[in-house]
Amino acid sequence: MEFSNRDKSQYVKDTFNAIARRYDLMNTLMSLGMDKLWRRKVVQIVQAKPGMRILDVCCGTGKLTTELGKSVVPSGQVIGIDFSKEMLEKAWKNLNNSFSKENIKLLQGDALSLPFENNSFDGATVGWGLRNLPELSKGIQEMVRVVKPGSLVVSLDMAKPTIPIFKQVYWFYFKKIIPFLGKIWAGKEKEYNYLFSSAYEFESQSELAKIFENCGLVKTGYINLAGGIVAIVYGQKPRI
Ligand SMILES: C[S@@+](CC[C@H](N)C(=O)[O-])C[C@H]1O[C@@H](n2cnc3c(N)ncnc32)[C@H](O)[C@@H]1O
Repeated sequence: MEFSNRDKSQYVKDTFNAIARRYDLMNTLMSLGMDKLWRRKVVQIVQAKPGMRILDVCCGTGKLTTELGKSVVPSGQVIGIDFSKEMLEKAWKNLNNSFSKENIKLLQGDALSLPFENNSFDGATVGWGLRNLPELSKGIQEMVRVVKPGSLVVSLDMAKPTIPIFKQVYWFYFKKIIPFLGKIWAGKEKEYNYLFSSAYEFESQSELAKIFENCGLVKTGYINLAGGIVAIVYGQKPRI
């Protein structure tokens, strides 16, 4: 899909506002329930520990934010930031069921202009967020800016499977079946078509690791999940 930067931001915001109500259910159905395990892996890789202050960018309905919250209790803090009002409202509701809710703060804001000081977090995560940004490098640079030297920046996102046949089946499923399910279960075919095209047009996991490096991170790498349909890409802010 071709957009100007401003158009893309508005389109993405409208899309997530429209699908917020059914987002969690669709996420679980589309990932066959594996999304929870993938988020836990992110928590492990960012090395979230009690007392830490972690930022979760593009936090959406707060699922990853909540997983992070469980690891920083009793004295740490997780801040989730997202620009979609509807996704955040769902996150506030979801948070009510979490024992770590006192340690979690949710904010409405833009990933491309984070309202935080330099070197103020012990780690930053982004779950299925980077591919929605009109300026990918700027979003990563913002995360790099706000984490402390030695801390990790970790992204979980759709990736590019390479196994023959499996990858053809996967892209068919994503292009044809998911928008169909989106239409049946959530009444939102156009929005689920966007999810396909944003994943299809997004950088591969190895390209994204390279961009992490170009944005100033070291010890970059990636871990494929579910045969490379999804990948965790990570890097460390250099120690001074
Ligand atoms: C696919 S959802 C991911 C939600 C969540 N991280 C998860 O693990 O399920 C992507 C989220 O990114 C948010 N988003 C996209 N672009 C953004 C931006 N520029 N600033 C803040 N949030 C943004 C959307 O509003 C949406 O809630």
